[in-house]
Amino acid sequence: MNSRLARIALACVAALVLAAGIAAYQVRSERQSQTASRFDMIGGPFELVDQDGRTVTRDSFAGRFVLMSFGFTFCPDVCPTELSQMAATMDLLGGEAERLQPVFITVDPERDTPEAIGQYVRQFHPRLIGLTGTQEQIATAAGAYKVYYSKVEQDGGYYTMDHSTFLYLLGPDGTTVDIFPYGTDPEELAARIREHMSA
Ligand code: NI
Repeated sequence: MNSRLARIALACVAALVLAAGIAAYQVRSERQSQTASRFDMIGGPFELVDQDGRTVTRDSFAGRFVLMSFGFTFCPDVCPTELSQMAATMDLLGGEAERLQPVFITVDPERDTPEAIGQYVRQFHPRLIGLTGTQEQIATAAGAYKVYYSKVEQDGGYYTMDHSTFLYLLGPDGTTVDIFPYGTDPEELAARIREHMSA
């Protein structure tokens, strides 16, 4: 290959690399701005009660990331799976888990007293906090995070709860920075949380 052709080839490669870089940057910044607007409307202040009967608000977790799910202790299947995955995520994060507070908020305050939710969350992870409250306090918290929940009467005076199952990641300032669908792998959760922590 003569030197002129080599220079042209080199210039083409450089142009391609630059174009690819710009495209990647644009996709990335677009994705970030979409992310910001996507979660803007989800989340808000709440006031609840923890397993020790103390009042807890969203501001109580300021300075930490929060991984939050909604459910109820009588949940046969979905909530235990989700809480196990939150616990596995904490373990995968190792030392970085210190910057993350896992939180479980009940949608069934009628049965989930502070004591009941405390006993329940302790089965999954020692750092997991369980939150309950009055029906009104729960409605406010669930409403802020667009959580659907509904009481379903069953035979014999029993009831169960239907509820949505997203996991929410709050940043240190309390805003919602990510939302994960039910069933997201702990490996992926840990990786995405690490990304947010290093952003
Ligand atoms: Ni559940």
